[in-house]
Amino acid sequence: AELADRVPLIWLHMAECTGCSESLVRADTPNLDSLIFDQISLEYHETLMAAAGWQAEENLDHALETYKGNYLLAVEGAVPTANNGAFLTLGCKGRTGLELVRKAAAGAAAIVSVGTCASFGGVQAAYPNPTGAKGVHQVVDKTVINLGGCPPSEKNIVGTLMYFIMFGKLPALDIYNRPKWAYGARVHDNCDRRGHFDAGEFVEQFGDNNAKQGFCLYKVGCKGPYTYNNCPTERFNHHTSWPIQAGHGCMGCSEPNFWDEMADFERP
Ligand code: SF4
Ligand code: SF4
Ligand code: F3S
Repeated sequence: AELADRVPLIWLHMAECTGCSESLVRADTPNLDSLIFDQISLEYHETLMAAAGWQAEENLDHALETYKGNYLLAVEGAVPTANNGAFLTLGCKGRTGLELVRKAAAGAAAIVSVGTCASFGGVQAAYPNPTGAKGVHQVVDKTVINLGGCPPSEKNIVGTLMYFIMFGKLPALDIYNRPKWAYGARVHDNCDRRGHFDAGEFVEQFGDNNAKQGFCLYKVGCKGPYTYNNCPTERFNHHTSWPIQAGHGCMGCSEPNFWDEMADFERP
């Protein structure tokens, strides 16, 4: 597709681990090539772009100006706000992440927080949160779509971008601004092991005979009953697997403050 037909996407990295970008590159419907060449014009993405150094920063500023009001903004990572944002500075101009996110948000047609860090602060915001890490929606005054998950699946990322590209509006959102099509049901509602939960068949400790038989992981800390995400039906890595299929309970990674509030991941 011609550049004019494609929607400009600016993807910023704040305080993060790049796991969300790792998830993005595993997209298959459409795959990343098709997404980049047919649907979007990826103007800035620190992991995927060819430019480096001052040239990269120049590209970013150019895109922010040229496509003002028309670009999609995706943010990966929490925004450190303590000491006026000084815990994260980026590029040759020494701008803080806080400054950059606010500037980019001001000109965006829509804003997507990719992952629990950008959505709710994530592990960076875990107690005592020395950097004052916050979700993007807490530092800008526009609506932000939150794609909870550490990381969210590639389906949830690409599906949300594609929704905006195809319909020109935001999808229906839940109380935490997560798209309902992806976060409308609890992990527990569609879990492969749900039959064992209903039958009272539980893993009592990791490695026991019940674990070998694929019994329910509730007693070893599974947070699936309290977590909204589509992992059981969509899975990860080209539908290969997901945490509970791999034998570990859900950690509640798509929920706000899961690090502090659901932290007994491996205890009853
Ligand atoms: Fe990494 Fe998880 Fe944060 Fe994504 S949400 S950047 S995977 S820590
Ligand atoms: Fe529910 Fe977790 Fe048991 Fe699955 S493993 S049925 S999500 S408690
Ligand atoms: Fe996260 Fe639980 Fe899915 S830990 S990846 S929401 S199964």
